Amino acid sequence: MRRTPVIAGNWKMYKTKDDALAFIYAVNLEVPEFEKVETVICAPSIFLRDLVKREGENLKIGAQNMHYLDEGAYTGEVSAPMLRSYGVDYVVIGHSERRAYYNETDESVNLKAIQAIKYDLTPIVCCGESLEIREAGTTNDFVKQQVIKAYQNIPAEDVLKTIIAYEPIWAIGTGRTATPEQANETIQAIREVIKSLYGEKISEQLRILYGGSVNPKNVDSLIAMPDIDGALVGGASLDPTSYLTLVKAALKK
Ligand code: 13P
Repeated sequence: MRRTPVIAGNWKMYKTKDDALAFIYAVNLEVPEFEKVETVICAPSIFLRDLVKREGENLKIGAQNMHYLDEGAYTGEVSAPMLRSYGVDYVVIGHSERRAYYNETDESVNLKAIQAIKYDLTPIVCCGESLEIREAGTTNDFVKQQVIKAYQNIPAEDVLKTIIAYEPIWAIGTGRTATPEQANETIQAIREVIKSLYGEKISEQLRILYGGSVNPKNVDSLIAMPDIDGALVGGASLDPTSYLTLVKAALKK
């Protein structure tokens, strides 16, 4: 069974409005049919409305974060119903930068994933270990626990509405990519834990991406690995040509 690959750009806190629009105009007509590769751009909240208005039929727009409640006195926050009302389709949940700098916890990641599903947003649920954990040799156990906590109270029928992104923290923005074998091994471990929770069929269908210094040079070897279903990409998603190279690599999947 083929899992449709996903190339999701995470722009983080980069670009201004003009840069963002120029990017969309440059890639809209170049990305392949959505059934071949799911192409997603996760942009800062302030750009979402403009990007959704201009997204082509094969490109989808995602947010980088959201609150887990419908509404409330939470200055500066954005809710799932707000995102949905603007036609946003995806949302990154639990990125390591949000875990590190904004007190995102396994519990809030879980609540946000549930909330995203409720509002028909596809959560891209992030997990990944620090260098310390990698060097201690406990990566797979750590990441498995993150996944178990992220999927608490998510019923089997909702699991395939989600995507997981495995992003080792030591590989993010460092130019130091996990080797394809390392990435595949941990993603296999994630698939195992999904299998133990939800059974083989679901674990075989769930898309699991790799993220961390993916670029046009290393993307082919990562994408070629059997368990890696695409990439969540920071730096190399900012430039249209670079982003399209990644998308073309995923076409070979
Ligand atoms: P880089 O591709 O810049 O390493 O960032 C990865 C990432 O954090 C994507 O969410």
